[in-house]
Amino acid sequence: MSGHQHGKGYHYKGHDVLLDLDTQPQENSGDLDNPYTYEVLESIAQHIAALMKHRPVIGVICGTELSGLSDSLENKDVIPYDSIPYFPRSTVTGHTGRLVIGTLKGIPIICMQGRFHVYEGFPLWKVTMPIRVLKLLGVQKLIVTDVAGGLNPDYKVGDIMIIKDHINMPGLGGCSALNGMNDERFGPRFPPMNNAYDLDLRKAARQVASDLKYEDFIREGVYIMLGGPSYETVAELRFLRRVGVDAVGMSTVAEVIVARHCGMKVFAFSLITNECITDFDSQKTLIYEEILDTCGKRQEHITKFASTVIQKLA
Ligand code: HPA
Repeated sequence: MSGHQHGKGYHYKGHDVLLDLDTQPQENSGDLDNPYTYEVLESIAQHIAALMKHRPVIGVICGTELSGLSDSLENKDVIPYDSIPYFPRSTVTGHTGRLVIGTLKGIPIICMQGRFHVYEGFPLWKVTMPIRVLKLLGVQKLIVTDVAGGLNPDYKVGDIMIIKDHINMPGLGGCSALNGMNDERFGPRFPPMNNAYDLDLRKAARQVASDLKYEDFIREGVYIMLGGPSYETVAELRFLRRVGVDAVGMSTVAEVIVARHCGMKVFAFSLITNECITDFDSQKTLIYEEILDTCGKRQEHITKFASTVIQKLA
């Protein structure tokens, strides 16, 4: 690096680069790098509350495959993320970015249409900040949906996997959305993570699957969050299968941890959009279009499943 030190920082290619390596977390108004203090999030929630006529206690994070649910709501308020102060903005093509608040068969719900991922460059505290905003808006139960690759050899493309547990791969390596100073108004320093995916909600969802005669394509399994955006190598997938992973994806877990930390009950499911390739000599290749294609084909079932589960939870 061609630069010279001066004060706190250095001069590099005509720019002053500031470095403040001495700052301690407690001097930094809260979480290590997280500027979303309780008060900031409260003010964001107040901004949103003033724009919505409903007071939902159920929140839904709609993955790529579930945008139909928010479109079908009645008596809607739609709030684009880019109109909300300090809200992140989605960067993935095909992911809309807005809050949709409306009623589903008379039940008020709030949907995040579009979410944030680590591979977009967001730190985990930014990926998960909307969950705390939902909490401050009154949400008590959170439904999280995503797309995932099917690693369990019994799974088929188009299956819906109720998530019974997760492996927090970034977290095992020390990257958690809860890193930094803890504000007890959200939750405890060391939150437990067993029963993260509420048993009663899973039982209700199993019943819904049976009522809708969806048993043939409903599964229940373990989801792992990986950083992405590259898909996995064959060796990585074989490793993950050995440790009990049924489906692999790039989202959900961080949001669920923050939701559990602040006391929400969580239900989550994955749409299995593709088979994981676990044969070293396979010439198959995974492309994003295949994932979108499966989403399109299962759209109706997914929307029906989610909306019936919501009616059961209300
Ligand atoms: N791997 C990771 N994330 C995914 C996949 C996959 O195979 N399919 C959908 N999201």
